[in-house]
Amino acid sequence: MSAVSIPGVDRILFTEEQIHTRIQELGAEISRRYEGKTIKLIGVLKGSIFFLTALARYIEVPLKIDFLGISSFSNKTGAPGVVRIAKDLDESIEGEDVLLVEDIVDTGFTLRYLLQTLAGRAPNSLSVCTFLDRNSRRIVQVPVDYRCFEIPDRFVVGFGLDYNQLYRNLGYVAVMKPERST
Ligand code: IMP
Ligand code: MG
Repeated sequence: MSAVSIPGVDRILFTEEQIHTRIQELGAEISRRYEGKTIKLIGVLKGSIFFLTALARYIEVPLKIDFLGISSFSNKTGAPGVVRIAKDLDESIEGEDVLLVEDIVDTGFTLRYLLQTLAGRAPNSLSVCTFLDRNSRRIVQVPVDYRCFEIPDRFVVGFGLDYNQLYRNLGYVAVMKPERST
């Protein structure tokens, strides 16, 4: 699917080639950092699955994969921040070296909730790897150990990220036109 054929898409932010080059670098960095260990990659459904599988191909230490699904709600004032687990992990993470894999960290509410929840399950270590980081919109401070790209304050789709559940399967990341950004 070309970017111009998608209604509401403004321009390509990261090409497929740029994405894979950067993920390869990140995979090498993670491999060095976790040398001698086994990583438990935890993907947050559904947005992170494209990034997680691409990243896992470039990690050269043994790894296991698990997923959790979340639902986010707005409160009465329309503010974000209410998150709950809709699909839990299949296995315990006790004593494991967990690397939580996110599609994007925006306000930070989702990540804060996930880190609090997972930290309570006694992993040996708990780190965060996100495909995109929109630091300019952060409301709660959360630790991000690895990121592929920092992005501007624009709504993006592709490589796992959706607009009304669409466009996750694009190989690139594109910026939506401002009128679609709600
Ligand atoms: P946070 O709790 O505000 O950090 O929200 C992060 C979640 O909001 C992500 O996991 C996405 O599901 C969603 N999200 C935030 N920004 C975008 C975007 O630009 N495109 C698609 N989804 C987004
Ligand atoms: Mg997400």
